[in-house]
Amino acid sequence: MLNILFVCLGNICRSPLAEAIFNQKVKERGLNQSIKADSAGTASYHIGEDPDSRSIQVAVKHGVPIAHKGRQYHFKDAATFDYILAMDASNHRDIIHATSDRPEGLFLMRDFDPDGQGGDVPDPYYGGEDGFEKVFQILDRSIDAFLDFLVEKHHL
Ligand code: 4NP
Repeated sequence: MLNILFVCLGNICRSPLAEAIFNQKVKERGLNQSIKADSAGTASYHIGEDPDSRSIQVAVKHGVPIAHKGRQYHFKDAATFDYILAMDASNHRDIIHATSDRPEGLFLMRDFDPDGQGGDVPDPYYGGEDGFEKVFQILDRSIDAFLDFLVEKHHL
């Protein structure tokens, strides 16, 4: 089983949406016996909380089931997860700091974005709903490409 962890700051906007989109695509591809995903935040502000209502709204709009309770990234996650996908450069830095190391399999989500590699998935928290739609589109295409990468690399 490949374990994938999506990480953002609060674990209520971007990473639970990434987890939901990823798990649905895994199911659609019939890979749910081989891969599963979770999400976490580098900050502790929203532990135990449901995803932001705007993330739920955009997921529902696109027919993606979403359910997650906020949790904080823990350095032990680096040993549990095969891949850790940071939403932005700041999350990427915080993960390395919290782990006291550079976890193997740590990437930026947009390393896999076919439309522009290496940038940030923008934090939509203080913006409007259009920001959540933009995040959805970035995640949707980046996750397709990430899954293609996993299938090829791990012969799934
Ligand atoms: P996320 O968005 O990192 O995508 O979950 C945020 C959620 C909450 C906060 C910042 C970003 N906050 O400052 O509380």
